Amino acid sequence: MKQLEDFIIENIKKKGKLTFADFMRIALYHPEYGYYNSDREQTGMFGDYYTSPTISKYFGELVAKQLEEMWKNMGEVNFTVVEMGSNTGWLCYDIMCFVRKEYPGFYDKFRYVIVESNAYKRKKQQMLLDSINLPSEKVVWHTYTENGFSFDEIDGCFLANEFIDALPVHRLKVKKGILKELYVSYNENGFFEIEDNLSSHILLEYLETCKCDFKEGQVFEVNLDGVNWLRQVSKKLNRGFVLTIDYGDTKDRIYYEDNREGTLRCFYKHTVNCDFYKRVGEQDITASVDFTSLINIGRSFGLEFTGLTNQSQFLIALGILGKTNTLENGNNAVLKIKNLIHPEVMGDVFKVLIQHKNVTNTRLSGLKPLRLVEM
Ligand SMILES: C[S@@+](CC[C@H](N)C(=O)[O-])C[C@H]1O[C@@H](n2cnc3c(N)ncnc32)[C@H](O)[C@@H]1O
Repeated sequence: MKQLEDFIIENIKKKGKLTFADFMRIALYHPEYGYYNSDREQTGMFGDYYTSPTISKYFGELVAKQLEEMWKNMGEVNFTVVEMGSNTGWLCYDIMCFVRKEYPGFYDKFRYVIVESNAYKRKKQQMLLDSINLPSEKVVWHTYTENGFSFDEIDGCFLANEFIDALPVHRLKVKKGILKELYVSYNENGFFEIEDNLSSHILLEYLETCKCDFKEGQVFEVNLDGVNWLRQVSKKLNRGFVLTIDYGDTKDRIYYEDNREGTLRCFYKHTVNCDFYKRVGEQDITASVDFTSLINIGRSFGLEFTGLTNQSQFLIALGILGKTNTLENGNNAVLKIKNLIHPEVMGDVFKVLIQHKNVTNTRLSGLKPLRLVEM
């Protein structure tokens, strides 16, 4: 997109170079032209990728089941769910419908906060939720910036489905045993990359906290915005859980030795590419989530580790296979369930991390190991 590229080029001219994180922040979140702030569809058939809530309502229903158990574990207190970056609003819609229908006691104590920065999407979410006639205080909208959230402390659960993978990342490289950062610059031939010293000492502190050990020549991403998000979450979570669902893995499985180039990639009309400097503002840029770092850094902010599993195990443990007995749309619904749990589609690629604060009963069905069926 010409206007966005010109904006980035101007910034590069002023500063000489941009960190990749700054480039990605503008490409995705420029208030007018950024990919996530435009009014085009990102998810679903006419977008660039699918997310679980846009595939099947059973995803939201099973998340609702897990939330109800959290509420019970916490002594049935007033319970607020804070959903990050709701996009279409389908996850909130499915959770609200299910909680109202299946768990009236929970529904009475239940409140939902959508954190959404895109005004166009907020409007679409409001229209979708208006269609199910909820009392106005049940779902409210708030914002999140690097300085924190626009609401007070909560008891309940922060819910982030495919939020952290969409945050800007720094790109680092080990060169002759020294850590270098990859920057973006520009000349008459277009954008190009420069290796230079680290842009911030915070990157080094991060690497120490997450105990990373990278090999010569390896490129890897550091998601400092994810760290700041966890810090802000820990400040606002008085009691409760953080439920993070995203693609990624533990550090050793993401940054294995053969992965020399890192995990950064782009999604455009359901295809994947590594042309980070093309279609700027028109394609998604994303990096896999390093769950080891989220766990270690979360601990340093007082968020204790409850458990880590994959989406397949999480949904099966919560009863997704039982849904096949009550399917309304026949084969189509079976196919959607397969997409959610098949290891090569979303089942193993997506991980589910649960952390907690000030909760003693942390036994959760979604984290239970699966038992083999006895024959
Ligand atoms: C990959 S999309 C995930 C959409 C949705 N959670 C789903 O599962 O369909 C990432 C979302 O995070 C949102 N996001 C990023 N930074 C945000 C912020 N500071 N406040 C609110 N939303 C944000 C983006 O606008 C985008 O909608």
